[in-house]
Amino acid sequence: MLVLGIETSCDETAAALVADGVRVRSNVVSSQLDHAAYGGVVPEIAARRHVESLPSVVAAAFDEAGVEWSDIGGIGVTRGPGLVGALLAGWCYGRGASRSLGVPYVGVNHLAAHVHGALMPVLEAGDRVAYPLLALIVSGGHTTLYRLPTEAEFRRAGGTLDDAAGEAFDKVATLLGLGYPGGPIIDRLADGGDAGAVKLPRARLESPFDFSFSGLKAAVRREALRQELEPWVGEGPGCGDHVDSRILDLVASFQRAVLDMLESATDAALRQFPSRGLVVAGGVAANRGLRARMEALAARHDLPLYLSPVELATDNAAMVAGQAHRRLAAGEADTFDQTVRARWPLGA
Ligand code: KG4
Ligand code: ZN
Repeated sequence: MLVLGIETSCDETAAALVADGVRVRSNVVSSQLDHAAYGGVVPEIAARRHVESLPSVVAAAFDEAGVEWSDIGGIGVTRGPGLVGALLAGWCYGRGASRSLGVPYVGVNHLAAHVHGALMPVLEAGDRVAYPLLALIVSGGHTTLYRLPTEAEFRRAGGTLDDAAGEAFDKVATLLGLGYPGGPIIDRLADGGDAGAVKLPRARLESPFDFSFSGLKAAVRREALRQELEPWVGEGPGCGDHVDSRILDLVASFQRAVLDMLESATDAALRQFPSRGLVVAGGVAANRGLRARMEALAARHDLPLYLSPVELATDNAAMVAGQAHRRLAAGEADTFDQTVRARWPLGA
């Protein structure tokens, strides 16, 4: 069955066509650039841009896949968690298309979709995934460890007490004037710095499965003030631009601290909860340093690693279509009286 996926929970307008939940026929993502000037996502602007972009993004997804509306058997739309206005833009579009085509639609949990995205390559290859799994979802909105006793069950093992890891990347980049979103910029700049140059704190929390990044962020700010670092002024550094080496050292040290915390909590959870595989999903899973750490960690535990391919790590609609397919294939559909959910913890 060919499923149209739609994703509008934050600042990416995305549409994708996926066959049988795993074969990606097209995956179109339009990132809204308007938020860069504000250093973060402005909800009203996000919702408006989704409404404007959806028709052309969906048309591009059909074009790229070389199929017609009449070829699809269902529609999957992100129902939550996310920004209400942004979610509603995709929800209403998907619901309208479902009504007019007479095909079923289902609302998908964005976090479950991230996990599905990490599993897609293995499922596409026809390999079986053994449960229980441990999943680290690490993005701009979430940093959470879940246990998955089965494919459909999610039990929260721990999570951030304050900022999400991606949010910390974004805020540190903004405070140093490096641009937005900060994750990919810091990922790149960290290569040029000495990660041992600046001593930064790692949060020590009551639960070894929890995270906290706000103290680290404050320490970066203090360090920038102490060293009287001049924030970068402009659009954010381009590839050939010269960035103060002290800023490079600071972001490299910051990234190492984030990765240390992500790794140690995941390691503790793998020691505590019997797992037959490790899933790493969400936008920060695109980080090269994190990918290397998680590969080494899974190898130490002698476990298969289900690491999101980079194009399925940051927000996209292929993971949404894939996750929707599970329910559509079972003949399930959502009814038209439902609406979006700004908060929607997995397993609730
Ligand atoms: O999953 P995602 O696209 O959206 C949410 O559901 O939040 O994640 C976006 C987050 C942003 O905070 C962005 O800075 C971060 O993922 N991110 C990265 C990288 N690419 C994206 N963080 C670190 N390194 C990267 N390469
Ligand atoms: Zn996401």
